[in-house]
Amino acid sequence: MRKHSVSWGVGIVLALWAGQAMSASQEPIQPIEPVVIKEPEKVELGKMLFFDPRLSRSGAISCNSCHNLAMGGSDNLKASIGHQWQMGGINSPTVLNSSMNIAQFWDGRAKDLREQAGGPIANPAEMASSHEVAVQVLNSIPGYRSEFKRVFGKDGITIDEVTSALAAFEETLVTPNSRFDKWLKGDKNALTVRELAGYQLFKNSGCVACHNGAAVGGNSFQKMGLVSPYVTDNKAEGRAGVTGQDADRFNFKVPTLRNVALTYPYFHDGEAATLTQAVDVMGRLQLGRTFTDEENGQIVAFLKTLTGDQPVIQYPVLPPSEDDTPRPEPFVK
Ligand code: HEC
Ligand code: HEC
Repeated sequence: MRKHSVSWGVGIVLALWAGQAMSASQEPIQPIEPVVIKEPEKVELGKMLFFDPRLSRSGAISCNSCHNLAMGGSDNLKASIGHQWQMGGINSPTVLNSSMNIAQFWDGRAKDLREQAGGPIANPAEMASSHEVAVQVLNSIPGYRSEFKRVFGKDGITIDEVTSALAAFEETLVTPNSRFDKWLKGDKNALTVRELAGYQLFKNSGCVACHNGAAVGGNSFQKMGLVSPYVTDNKAEGRAGVTGQDADRFNFKVPTLRNVALTYPYFHDGEAATLTQAVDVMGRLQLGRTFTDEENGQIVAFLKTLTGDQPVIQYPVLPPSEDDTPRPEPFVK
């Protein structure tokens, strides 16, 4: 049974890849285009919320704590640190280019950024607040009341408005102009010979079956350990936790490889500390191929060309709390 499903899986990879290759002269990866900001005031409000630790029970944890925009939109930790120094269950993915994801979270349980944004605020292991309290905090702050009114055109703040503003901000966090994108757009000097060799290997060995499109991933769920099983102590079940189907066990959303040089450590359990390790594991477990050190180095060199322009963030100044703003509870369980 195991053997059967394995060869079937590899068949899919090859079929997928052949489909990519056949779809004309086009590369399997497309450049990221700069974002066009349509609602600047909503984006600005979303940025304030993204940086505001008062959305957490402790008053100390903001979205940016775990998706640090100074560090590729991640925390560079194996597992995130949540309320009261709790160890998170899974590695924090980057928020950069997350608007391109087919769905949000490793298992895709949130359909989009709006649905996702409500999760961490009320997650007891992350920000440990509740939607009611978070909204009460914001409603008590005149600076926020006027800002929400300006953006949404009515009095009284709701959680839907909070998640909508957060999503609008996150949609602006795209990273165009990587050296690889410059190459895709015709600047043949943008990559070195070694980086280009890495890209050819990335295509020819079959990585592009799963890591393709503008985000170089993010657009499908795939088995981790397709050719040989992935061994981990991490309890995450992947997509099976959402669909209840045993066949979806260990299916994870394929992570984007954009800015992957910045978003270490790797995999849902954060077990691969370096790109060299991650590429080695991917080669063996997903493709049944052991790369030589030279081949691995070429692929890593290519992956490093996927770092784009990071969003330029002017640190927001947040309106102060009022006398009746619920107080933070950093040391209350
Ligand atoms: C304590 C750390 C922590 C905080 C605080 C936090 N996150 Fe996350 N975030 C994570 C982790 C861990 C995941 C992955 C969880 C999973 O897949 O089950 C995640 C997933 C996401 C994703 C999905 C990305 C993807 O590729 O699937 C987005 C978007 C996101 N967070 C945005 C936010 C926003 C917005 C906030 C603030 C409201 C926030 N996060 C607060 C740790 C955190
Ligand atoms: C069958 C689909 C598939 C193929 C083929 C594949 N990958 Fe992956 N890749 C995934 C999945 C799924 C994950 C997430 C696994 C996890 O976290 O458990 C992943 C994760 C990664 C990561 C870590 C990213 C992060 O942020 O954690 C890197 C780097 C990577 N792949 C590179 C490659 C390279 C290089 C190749 C070719 C040698 C390749 N992949 C082939 C599906 C695939």
